[in-house]
Amino acid sequence: MDAWNHTTVLLNEAVDSLSGDSFTKPAQTYVDATFGRGGHSRAILSRIDETSRLIAFDKDPEAIAVANAIEDERFSIRHEGFAAISQLEGSSVAGILMDLGVSSPQIDNPARGFSFRAEGPLDMRMDTTRGQSAADFLATAPVEQIAEVIREFGEERFAFQVAKAIDARRQERGAIRTTRELAELVAGAVKTREAGQDPATRTFQALRIFVNAELEELGQALEASLEVLQPGGRLVVISFHSLEDRIVKQFIAKHSRDVVDRRAPFAPAKPMKLRSIGRVFPSSEEVARNPRARSAVMRVAERTQA
Ligand SMILES: C[S@@+](CC[C@H](N)C(=O)[O-])C[C@H]1O[C@@H](n2cnc3c(N)ncnc32)[C@H](O)[C@@H]1O
Repeated sequence: MDAWNHTTVLLNEAVDSLSGDSFTKPAQTYVDATFGRGGHSRAILSRIDETSRLIAFDKDPEAIAVANAIEDERFSIRHEGFAAISQLEGSSVAGILMDLGVSSPQIDNPARGFSFRAEGPLDMRMDTTRGQSAADFLATAPVEQIAEVIREFGEERFAFQVAKAIDARRQERGAIRTTRELAELVAGAVKTREAGQDPATRTFQALRIFVNAELEELGQALEASLEVLQPGGRLVVISFHSLEDRIVKQFIAKHSRDVVDRRAPFAPAKPMKLRSIGRVFPSSEEVARNPRARSAVMRVAERTQA
């Protein structure tokens, strides 16, 4: 294990929900879409039988290195965004788990550039082998696009002021390269203070979501899950902020009702594809043990026969 550990959130709750009762059946396939440091994956492997298998995904090369050390023939890891679950065989999967967002090792390692608390390069890519870093985006994007990203993905009231400050700074002294430089600039542009929250929180969240196309990929993966889950298969998603949770909630709600075609109101309704099972929050004991669990919400749904 590397120096930065990840404490798995909702470990037993997520694995129990993924199972339903399918862990008792042979030859089932499960997906851990967000391997991280493998807390959920190891628990799943400890509970499925010898004929079942677990396919895991992660974008992060450091997560992949940890996964590659798992010696278990039932386990395989793919270095890809989890929208690639669309490539799995249709109706072949008994359960998909997504534990969204960043892992503690990503946030805690200043070299990854996710945290405004520590000085580091302003990177924020989960997959450091490809794509554009946050610094490169802020160096080249038009001011209107920067403002839009910060407003949409950070829900920051002062998005335009922040974007203007970034633009002024790059014209005067060159592009921002580090986390502290950005945090200080944002603190100067955000005029009000929210209790217990650093003024840079929203801007950092926005850039992270944008750089990693997090919401777009979540939408794609949810749609793909409808195709690859077998009837009775479970979808389990743990979110850490309202933008993610809204997408998951609306997706489950949309597919948990029969759909009537408004242009053909007398045609039989298309039957619902999901049955919502419920919502779970971490216990107060878990939050006391692991403060990063405090914003987690887990939603569970089951694929119907349709
Ligand atoms: C909260 S952590 C998961 C922790 C894991 N459940 C554990 O117990 O160790 C999220 C992980 O998912 C990865 N990730 C986030 N979005 C992803 C995506 N769209 N595709 C693939 N991996 C993703 C991140 O790189 C990170 O390693």
